[in-house]
Amino acid sequence: MVGIDKINFYTPNTYIDLVTLAEARGIDPDKFIIGIGQSKMSVPPISQDTVTMGANAAFPILEKADLELIDLIVVGTESGIDESKSVGTFIHDLLGVQPFAKAVEIKQACYGATAGLMMAVDYVRLHPDRKALVIGSDISRYGLATSGEVTQGAGAIAMVISSNPRILEIEGETVALTQNIFDFWRPNYSDTAIVDGKFSNEAYISSFHTLWEEFMRRTELKLSDFDAFCFHMPYTKMGKKALLPILENEDKDLANQLIFNYDLGTHYTRHIGNIYTGSLYLSLMSLLNNPDHKLTAKSRIGFFSYGSGAVAEIFSGVLVPGFEKHLLKKEQEEHLESRISLSIDEYEALFNETIPKDDGIHTINRSKTDNSLFYLKEINEHKRIYGK
Ligand code: COA
Repeated sequence: MVGIDKINFYTPNTYIDLVTLAEARGIDPDKFIIGIGQSKMSVPPISQDTVTMGANAAFPILEKADLELIDLIVVGTESGIDESKSVGTFIHDLLGVQPFAKAVEIKQACYGATAGLMMAVDYVRLHPDRKALVIGSDISRYGLATSGEVTQGAGAIAMVISSNPRILEIEGETVALTQNIFDFWRPNYSDTAIVDGKFSNEAYISSFHTLWEEFMRRTELKLSDFDAFCFHMPYTKMGKKALLPILENEDKDLANQLIFNYDLGTHYTRHIGNIYTGSLYLSLMSLLNNPDHKLTAKSRIGFFSYGSGAVAEIFSGVLVPGFEKHLLKKEQEEHLESRISLSIDEYEALFNETIPKDDGIHTINRSKTDNSLFYLKEINEHKRIYGK
C-alpha cells in the first residue's frame, strides 16, 4: 500500500480582496464572488518564488528521518525560475535532503504535480523502504485588467509519498488523456499566460467526461463507489461544471453528497486563487480539514487532474484509518487567517515588480510583510541566493 503520508500547503501572506479588485476594474463584484466563485487572491512579494514557496510548504512536514529516506524530489511547476536548472535542486539543498537523491522539475501546465505523484508512487512501490517528496509550486499570472486576472493566485503544496501512508492510499488503476491543443500556454518570452478562456473551460469539461467513461470501463467502479471528488480548480466553479452532468441520472442522495463534498473542497481555493499544479491537492486538504465531511477510513475519493495543452488524469484514493490525526488543519488555517490585505495600488506594485536581469549583485527587497521561513535574498551574477 503506497500513498500520501503527509501533506501541506503554503501561500504568500498577502492577498487582494476580490470585491476591491472588481470595484477597481468597474466590474460587478457578484461576477467574481458568485459567477466565478472566488473571494480572495494570494499575491506573492518579489521575495517569494516557486523555490521558496515549495520549500515553505515542505519544511513543516519533514522530520530528520524523512530527509534520510527521501530518494526522489519531483517539483511540478509551470512558473519555474530557470529553463535549465530545476527548482528541485534548490529545494533539495534548502531542506537538507540526503545527497544521493534525484531532484527534478516536471512541466505540463497544471498537471505537473500529478505526473510527479505517479512517478513517486511507482518509485516507492519498487523501493518500499524509501520515500519521495512531491511538490507543486506556482505563481499564476494572466496580467492586470485581463479577463483571467480574477483567476490568478500563488502557492505550493508538498506531499511525502511512502509505503503504509497515514492519510491516503493511491489505488492502482489510473487513466490519462493527452491532446495537443492551445487552450492555455505561455511562450518562453512571456511572463503572463495566453488563454482562450472559453475553450479552456470546454477542454477541461470534455476531458473529464471522456476520462470518466474510460475510467469506469477499465476499473468497473461506479459513481456509487465514490464518497467524494476533488478537482483541479482554476476557480471554484470550474470543477462543478464538469461534475454536475455525471450526476444527472443518479440517486439524489448520492448526487447531493458528492456536491456537498465538492463544495467543502473549494474553500481554500476560494481564498487563495489558482495555484496551478498544487490546486487539486489544495482541494483535498480543504475537504479533509472541514469538520462537516462524513468521510471515514475506507472512503474513496476520485481525483481529476487537468493541465492545459493538454494532459488530464483520473485516479482514486482510499482514506486510511486515523487519517484525520495527520492533517495540519490548525496551522494551515492560522496561516490563512493571518494574511494581510493589500490595497489595489499595493497589489499592482507587487505584480509589476521584477528581479534584476544584469550581472550585478543585488539584494532583494524583502517587504516587512514577508515573514516566511525561506525567501529570495539576493541575485548574484544571475544566481539566485536564498535565505532561511
Ligand atoms: N453576477 C453573478 N454572476 C455573474 C455576473 C454577475 N454580475 N456576471 C457574470 N456572471 C457569471 C457568468 O454568468 C458566468 O457564469 P457561468 O460560467 O456559470 O456561465 C461567470 O460569471 C463568468 O462570466 P464570463 O462572462 O464567462 O467571464 P469571463 O469572460 O470574464 O471569463 C474565465 C471567465 C474563467 C473564462 C476567465 O477568467 C479566464 O479565462 N480564466 C483563466 C482560464 C481558466 O481558468 N480556465 C479554466 C480551465 S483550465
